[in-house]
Amino acid sequence: MMNIMDQGQFPPVGCPLVCPMTCPLAFDNLPLRDCMYLPRLTDEPAFIKLQEYYDQYGEHLYINQLMKINPLRFEQYSIILETPEDGDILIDFSKNRVNDDIMNLLFDLARARKVGCRREFMFQGMPVNFTEDRAVLHTALRNQSTTPVITDGENVMPKIHDVLNQMREFTEMVISGKWKGHTGREIEDIVNIGIGGSDLGPVMVTEALKPFKTRLKMHFVSNIDGTHLVEVLKKVNHATVLFIISSKTFTTIETITNANSAKKWFIEKSGNEEGVAKHFVAVSTNSPKVCSFGIDLKNMFVFWDWVGGRYSLWSAIGLAIALAIGFDNFEHLLEGAFFMDDHFRTTPLERNVPIILALIAFWYHNFYGAETYAIIPYDQYLHRFPAYLQQADMESNGKYVTRCSGNVTYTTGPVAWGEPGTNGQHAFFQLLHQGTHLIPVDFIIPAISHNPIEDNKHHKLLLANFVAQSEALMKGKTCMEAQKDLQCSGLTGEKMVQIVPHKIFEGNRPSNSIVVRKITPFTLGALIALYEHKIFVMGCIWDINSFDQMGVELGKELAKKIEPDLEDPREEITSHDPSTNGLINFIKTHFPI
Ligand code: F6P
Repeated sequence: MMNIMDQGQFPPVGCPLVCPMTCPLAFDNLPLRDCMYLPRLTDEPAFIKLQEYYDQYGEHLYINQLMKINPLRFEQYSIILETPEDGDILIDFSKNRVNDDIMNLLFDLARARKVGCRREFMFQGMPVNFTEDRAVLHTALRNQSTTPVITDGENVMPKIHDVLNQMREFTEMVISGKWKGHTGREIEDIVNIGIGGSDLGPVMVTEALKPFKTRLKMHFVSNIDGTHLVEVLKKVNHATVLFIISSKTFTTIETITNANSAKKWFIEKSGNEEGVAKHFVAVSTNSPKVCSFGIDLKNMFVFWDWVGGRYSLWSAIGLAIALAIGFDNFEHLLEGAFFMDDHFRTTPLERNVPIILALIAFWYHNFYGAETYAIIPYDQYLHRFPAYLQQADMESNGKYVTRCSGNVTYTTGPVAWGEPGTNGQHAFFQLLHQGTHLIPVDFIIPAISHNPIEDNKHHKLLLANFVAQSEALMKGKTCMEAQKDLQCSGLTGEKMVQIVPHKIFEGNRPSNSIVVRKITPFTLGALIALYEHKIFVMGCIWDINSFDQMGVELGKELAKKIEPDLEDPREEITSHDPSTNGLINFIKTHFPI
């Protein structure tokens, strides 16, 4: 992955970060000229020191021992965030292979990579999405302060408030039943048609906040696979359904194809083309396309190019969320995110949760070679949280080109994955405990369940499992302990010698544990924003653009070209590579469409 820029010709010292201001709020409080250049990560003195530290001690750091030598480790390596609304949030990062020396070097690295300065660039509307020359202002969408947010010379807050007001009015009309369908009946079902960021956030939040749901039944269609739409349409009635066509660009082939099919279905079922106006609304940045689709612009909810798709649930893309849980709860979600924004923006880096989690994740990824990490929410309502974070993290940081347009000389973008506990325990935890990969885990749990059935027995068991897993990963089981267990179960002699190695857990497997009081709109907003900022910090350290997604384009372009190739079974396709030709020809000759 070498290119000319990596061979030392350009840039000689680093990469310009264009910014016409100083960074008064940044902890690295640097004048402009010092913010402008970043050396290559692997040339940073702090990185080199971390590498030396890792080479000398990395494989000899035992979390168990770190716990034993410091009885105050939990107090020192955890943070409690006091929220104004929904109780404290605990972030325990003590079960990690880090000590004060490592944390201090990591903080030095964060300073060297101008994380504080870049954070300010983002919050203050600078074009930090430099490949698309765009500001990145999802934080403005949830800004609860009266401070203006200026980008391109314009305060964006008034137009954000206008759309929020429009959303409030609309959701109240629909929920209260004042919004009538073409036969005069109330809306009962909402179908959100969107994909990627125009789907994953609304789905995840709607699922996570089911205990707050309104009377409306929610459905989501994302996949181009007709099955997705067909199965949803079976459940709804043309007289009582409302479709939200959610697409930032309004050109995404999956969404537009599904939207057209939904419109056709509606007209067929209702026999009333005029009725489209009462049953289709759009969320987009692209009014001409919304108009040509046939949606009245007064039923359009806008957002702006400075809202990235995967950061858009806070914008009008959250319309499905607001309908699902009511607008007041949607506002609490924004408030929770703002709480985390404020923490991220104002807390010294040594107590700054998104920065700490990012630095620890970086430590594992870039020094221990941890290629993946797992997110395990111990909460059934959060079952889509790992899928949501996959897009947030992997579409943001799955990149190998730096801000100077050279290739990285280090790895970036760990694979994010996970499933809710305790289900995951009975599926892939074997590999977490005894596999050959180092996989850091984030455990998340609400201390209080929305469903404390059987005198809270279920939840106590869930909590016990949550605590036990991080302890087991860290402590493991020694040979002696394994032997003792086997002896107790009556095994002796050669059989015991043979089985003992299989019963040993080497332990020392790291995890973070996050405890919230309850999953509420506020705490969920804070959690999502925590991960957004963690991802941003990692992108700063790697010096990549966390806000574009050019890597998804190639597959889309090729799909467009291949579609006509699938048409005529008599025409043999030879224009691709042998494998691609073979696949196309097999499909169309064996199973002509
Ligand atoms: O395929 C990538 C992507 O551009 C995502 O970043 C985005 O969230 C998704 O497609 C949907 O895009 P749109 O909202 O424009 O339909």
